[in-house]
Amino acid sequence: MKFFIDTANLAQIKEAHELGILDGVTTNPSLMAKEGIKGHEAVMNHYKAICEMVDGDISAEVIATDFDGIVAEGKALAALHPNIVVKVPMIKDGVKAIKWFTDNGIRTNCTLVFSAGQAILCAKAGAAYVSPFIGRIDDSGWDGVQLIEQISHIYTVQGFKTEILAASIRNPNHIIRCAEAGADVCTCPLDSILGLLKHPLTDIGLAKFLEDAKKTQ
Ligand code: E4P
Repeated sequence: MKFFIDTANLAQIKEAHELGILDGVTTNPSLMAKEGIKGHEAVMNHYKAICEMVDGDISAEVIATDFDGIVAEGKALAALHPNIVVKVPMIKDGVKAIKWFTDNGIRTNCTLVFSAGQAILCAKAGAAYVSPFIGRIDDSGWDGVQLIEQISHIYTVQGFKTEILAASIRNPNHIIRCAEAGADVCTCPLDSILGLLKHPLTDIGLAKFLEDAKKTQ
């Protein structure tokens, strides 16, 4: 399973990158706004800065919701860097645009996916990635990881090539469960990635080893 970081914060991207396990980055308009990125030029420059930091797929989301607007924005984003993946919302014109991008050699990540039916449409349109939002499904009282299992099963049975990108990750256990469920990629906040490191027995064991090491010096 590939690891993407789900942020537009350059310091966090750098920290995850330096860990040596980072395969890519996902952003969205909310994450860009959180970093105070304002104006078309600033947004485009920020995507370029991320592409220069990480040699992997970088998802950049369109704002338009009509076919012509999505295509125009997606073409401009894709022209920024070969690693840009155009992130398109799961709406009717979004699906049409994904098919257009597929036919024109531009890779896409279909976002805001909450059902298996939506995931089938993503795959049919040729999206490189489908992004089911695990945490938001959990927040509304359903089980997000079950959706990953269901999509994984359907894609295997049908031979779809779209990669399952588990999104809206809230904690380290989500990452583990998505790996079990067959996600191809997990896009995670830095805290959830670092949370995978932690186990109290590791800390206790290391403290004991370091204490005993003093006896050998
Ligand atoms: C990723 O591509 C999504 O934009 C992101 O994971 C959404 O996460 P949230 O539900 O924490 O906003």
